[in-house]
Amino acid sequence: MKYEKYYNLIKQQSEIFDKSQNCKIGQTWKHHLLPVINNALVLAEKYNADKDIVEIAAIFHDYADLLDMANRDNHHILGAELAEEILKKDGFKQNFIDKVKLCILNHRASVVKEKFSVEEICVADADAMSHLDNVVELICWRAYLGESIEQCNNFVKRKIEKSYAKMSKETQNLMKDKYESILKILF
Ligand SMILES: [Fe+2]
Ligand SMILES: [Fe+2]
Repeated sequence: MKYEKYYNLIKQQSEIFDKSQNCKIGQTWKHHLLPVINNALVLAEKYNADKDIVEIAAIFHDYADLLDMANRDNHHILGAELAEEILKKDGFKQNFIDKVKLCILNHRASVVKEKFSVEEICVADADAMSHLDNVVELICWRAYLGESIEQCNNFVKRKIEKSYAKMSKETQNLMKDKYESILKILF
């Protein structure tokens, strides 16, 4: 695997994160990070994006969050900086690093920003898709944190609505049936 070193780094950090969140070890990797990377690569093929930029950005998109949940509000900014440090050390060109950073900076639904590159769209859409594909993981995560059923429902509903809203029109079309089905279940 081309970026095995980065996969291992994030997988290990996500297991530490699971422990800190009282979640089952491996849950975040299996049900969020890996699906985001895989979705991003499928979209990169579909939308003709640079696969290396998309893959690396998807791997690192939540890195700052995994390091410390206190970074949550700024994890897109901090994550972009952390990825830059690592990629610089590994000899990637600044032009490539800047494109990866933009994908990480603009992956969030709650921070609405104009996306200019197709690579940014792939990573942001893949992140949003994974929330719809892994809605049970989201519910369990909030439950592990001790939230009530109403709180879990409200958190997940808001997350799903925001995730769908941030997707490109093409990806919304792919996910429309699933989105409507999830909203029928949540109250
Ligand atoms: Fe994120
Ligand atoms: Fe994410």
